[in-house]
Formats: sequence, structure tokens, C-alpha cells
Amino acid sequence: MTDTLSTSDLSPNNLEACWMPFTANRPFKANPRLFVSAKDMHYTTVEGRKILDGIAGMWCVNAGHCRPPIVEAVQRQVAKMDYSTAFQMGHPAQFELASRLSAILPGDIDHAFFCNSGSEAVDTALKIALAYHRVRGEGARTRLIGRERGYHGVGFGGISVGGIAPNRKFFGPLLNGVDHLPHTHNLEKNAFTKGEPGWGAHLADALEGLVTLHDASTIAAVIVEPVAGSTGVLIPPKGYLKRLREICDKHGILLIFDEVITGFGRLGASFAADYFDVLPDMITAAKGLTNGTVPMSAVFTRKGIYDTFMDAAPEGAIELFHGYTYSGHPLACAAALATLNVYRDEDLFARAHGLAGYWEDAVHGLRGTKNVIDVRNLGLVAGIEVAPRDGKPGARAADAFLKCYEKGLLVRQTGDIIALSPPLIIEKEQIDTIVSILGDVLSALD
Ligand SMILES: Cc1ncc(COP(=O)(O)O)c(C=O)c1O
Repeated sequence: MTDTLSTSDLSPNNLEACWMPFTANRPFKANPRLFVSAKDMHYTTVEGRKILDGIAGMWCVNAGHCRPPIVEAVQRQVAKMDYSTAFQMGHPAQFELASRLSAILPGDIDHAFFCNSGSEAVDTALKIALAYHRVRGEGARTRLIGRERGYHGVGFGGISVGGIAPNRKFFGPLLNGVDHLPHTHNLEKNAFTKGEPGWGAHLADALEGLVTLHDASTIAAVIVEPVAGSTGVLIPPKGYLKRLREICDKHGILLIFDEVITGFGRLGASFAADYFDVLPDMITAAKGLTNGTVPMSAVFTRKGIYDTFMDAAPEGAIELFHGYTYSGHPLACAAALATLNVYRDEDLFARAHGLAGYWEDAVHGLRGTKNVIDVRNLGLVAGIEVAPRDGKPGARAADAFLKCYEKGLLVRQTGDIIALSPPLIIEKEQIDTIVSILGDVLSALD
């Protein structure tokens, strides 16, 4: 390839070499959408247009874009120490960060294992679950239970427990011994519910069925998103997560909450575990951990899990044969510490809680709009489901995504659902703008 990149970052002259993730590469490259800067609630495109960010980047920029305390913390850190050896060495910020996190994590969830992406956090949590049972002498507990429509990233572990068909079907037999709970989405029973739907807690009882089928002695863990995002915003039915917890407890099964999108204030509480008052054994988190600034994720475990590993391994031995070159990267730790300060200083989780009612009323204003068959919401999250076009699932929502972009609003499309998850700094007028653009776009679609 002889083409060179333009000296101006505003006009790349060759889009071909980059294979874009989860993107229709050919239409994108024929008609690219390029952001060149971002501030607070907005992106700026290469043409100089301002785009209101209705999805916090991708559920990650909870404090808004390019916040000076975070930017400056990363700049200071990169000038001071760019990288620090991750195995058998440490640096102070990783310990400070873990301690700060343990103070805001629920219950006795007080240890953090750092990774770099949500996918890595999920695979790490699944591995910890398997190893935990093994070091306790229950090595037959190797089965992992996910859920239909679940999204847990794109590692082999994550797609195995995940339940989104296109993410799985190209990639062979995946992990052995995985089974799935039914998903909880039911338009007939729950369409246009505000907040948690009343119908569906009994769907958790399917776990009892899987226990009967496989025997509890073979099951290591259940992993679910407390609120499923990537599959189109599925709010858990009232009592569903509590019921899962009870069944897991009854059978000695670990419960993992994948809080990659719900962690760090999205529901108006630190974590969904707090919001729903259900304590899992592990939480996976990423995205909002560093406000999306530097890739970082974590698995948070209850004290008993960490202690089990520490007690089982002989003195001087490595307790868990797992880790990444960039676990606890200094830049990510600097970003995360500064992010936690912004969340605290601006009381952003409480802010999200305070705005949730206004948000709920605003998005439910779309009920009755042409093409809309459901609106669902919780905290500062909403899903707007549109009727699929005959024989073309996803096409109508894909058009809506493009039309919103033309009108200056970034939303996320998944199947025939438009997902919304704005930064927690959003103002009420900006909520009105989101709803008004979406309303105009949806009613104009065929
Ligand atoms: C619930 C959940 N888990 C895992 C992931 C994967 O995170 P990443 O894309 O950082 O690997 C995501 C990403 O959206 C997610 O929503």
C-alpha cells in the first residue's frame, strides 16, 4: 500500500486500511461520519457540525467529554511514568484506585482485579469463578450460565455466555458446558412500562430448571446484565434479580453482575447492585470507570472470593495465573482516580437520580409516535423500540440512527431498538432536544 495519510487529521485520504468494529464498513467508507473533537455534551464532526451525544460515547462518558480534571490527570501521568511493569511489580495509583473503589462498592465487594475492556473483565470473572470452585475442592463446577439476548463482550467466554445470535454463530462451538436462561423481554405483557416491569420475575425460576437438568454440583456461575443494554435496553422485571440471587445461594452458585454499562451512576446509584439492592458475588465494570478516557475495566469480587485464593495457595506462590500486560495501567489509573473525583465533586450519581423522573416523562412522550411499539426506561437509560419493516429487521431503526445524526443527535441502534444513555451532566433542555429530534425522525420514517 503506497498511500500515505494526509498530514491533516481532518481529512484522512484512505479509509480502506482500517477494518472497523461492529460497523458496516462499505457504506461507512462510502459516506463516512467522522468526529474530530468533543466537549461536555457534544461532538464536533469533520465538517464542523455539533452533534449532541445521546449515548455518552458508548455508555462510557458519564461525566461528559474532555473534562479538564481528567484530561490533566492523564497528561500529568504520561509525562511522569508512561508504563509500569504489571507482574511482580506495582505502582501506588493502582492500590489507591482499588481502595477508592472498594469504598463505593456494595457490601463486602472490596477487591479489584484490573483489565482493559469489558470483554476482558467478563472473561476474567468467568475464569475466577471456575478457579474459585476448584481451589475450594469443587472442581466439577465448570458450567457457566448466561442468558438469551445477553451481551458480555466479544471474548470466547463472553460470546459463549452471551445470547446474541450473530455474535456467536460465526465462531464455532464456543465454550463447553454453557447454558442460558430465557430473556425477560415481553412486549405483550410489558410494553410502555415506566421503570421496572411488573411481569416476569418468575422467569428467574428457569434457573431451578437448569439446576435440575445439570445438577448444582456442575454449575460454577450465573452471569447477567442487571439492565441489558446492547441487546436493546431490557429492564429487569420487579423481583427478578432478587430471585436469581436466592436460587444461586440455595445451590452454591456464584452470581456475577455484568455492570459494564450500569456501573458508575447510570441508574442514579453507584452500581445497579445498589439500585436493585441485590449483592452479587462479582461485578464486572469498565466504560464509566475512566469516563471512557483510557481503556480500563475491572472485576470486583467479594472478600470471601479473594480470601479463598489467598488461603489456598502456598506462601510465595502466585494465587491466580491470570493477568494482562496493561492490568492497572498508570494512565488508566490516573484517569479513573480523576473520574471518581469528578463523580464525587459534582455528585453526578445523585444528579442522574434527580433527573430520572424528567427523563422518564420525556421519553415516554414518544408513546403514540408513528412506528413506536415500546418505550422503556430506568435511571438515565431508555430504549425506543420501533416496528420492524417487513422482511428487513433493523432497517427502520438504522434509518432513524442516520436521520438523527443528520439532525445533530447521536443515538445507538441495535436491531429495531434505539438506545439512549446520555452523559449524566445532561441538562433538561438537552433531554427535550433528544426527544424532539427522535420524535420528528421517527414520525417521518416510512
Ligand atoms: C454488559 C457489557 N459487557 C461487556 C461489554 C464489552 O465491553 P468492551 O467492548 O469494552 O469489551 C459491553 C460493551 O458494551 C457491555 O455492554
